[in-house]
Amino acid sequence: MRLPQVIALGGSLLRPEESENRKIWFGKLRQLAVHIEGNSRKLGIVVGGGLPAREGIELAKNLVSDPDCLDEIGIAATRLNATIIQQILLEIGCNVAPMIPHTTEGAAEYFTDYNIVIMGGTKPGHTTDAVAVSLARDCSATDCIIATNVSHIYDTDPRTNENAKPFFEMTIDQLVEICGTERLAPGQSAVVDPIAVSIAAKNNINIAVLDGREIDLIEHALDGKGFEGTLVRS
Ligand code: UTP
Repeated sequence: MRLPQVIALGGSLLRPEESENRKIWFGKLRQLAVHIEGNSRKLGIVVGGGLPAREGIELAKNLVSDPDCLDEIGIAATRLNATIIQQILLEIGCNVAPMIPHTTEGAAEYFTDYNIVIMGGTKPGHTTDAVAVSLARDCSATDCIIATNVSHIYDTDPRTNENAKPFFEMTIDQLVEICGTERLAPGQSAVVDPIAVSIAAKNNINIAVLDGREIDLIEHALDGKGFEGTLVRS
């Protein structure tokens, strides 16, 4: 039996600007799930908090002082988004775990009975990138895909620097140089969460960053059919 594969789906992917794009994206995600299951493969999907996480943390920010407590708001949002994806796949009869696990160890156990396991965050102090890498570790996977809303990891922020250069391949040490090792603030964005990078380094897990707005790119990466994005070798 093949080991489960794991992807982190950035929460921003669930809410593209145009509703028509959303419909197409969810439709393709359903096709991907059917394709995985049809080949008796297993997939762990770790969903980010996106807009509800940012909004919730922003609402409470000046009233709640402990970052761990603000992180709990973010975690609730990730589980909301995970439940949305879970229900969308259950509706078409996919063999998806009907509960949202709160630990990666628990999620790994669900693969005994289900082809697809969907979860959000686990505990304060990191983002769902770190959850996805931990789930990959607990499933003995050697790779973890991080599907986000940029095409690559860049040497500088491409939103503010038009000369930013994409990496196609890099080592995990190079990524540590870019992301640092500090815990992110609640709701803070980074191309990859530094905590995820350190878990990957410790457990020899490769990270593949790609543009999750294109479900085809996720499918190609899962199928090992050519990869478009940044491969971070551990
Ligand atoms: P995300 O994983 O959604 O942040 O967690 P992200 O990497 O910025 O991803 P997207 O692409 O926008 O979805 C949102 C917030 O939830 C808390 C943190 O505060 C994080 O910033 N969180 C999430 C945790 O504290 N623990 C977790 O396991 C997951």
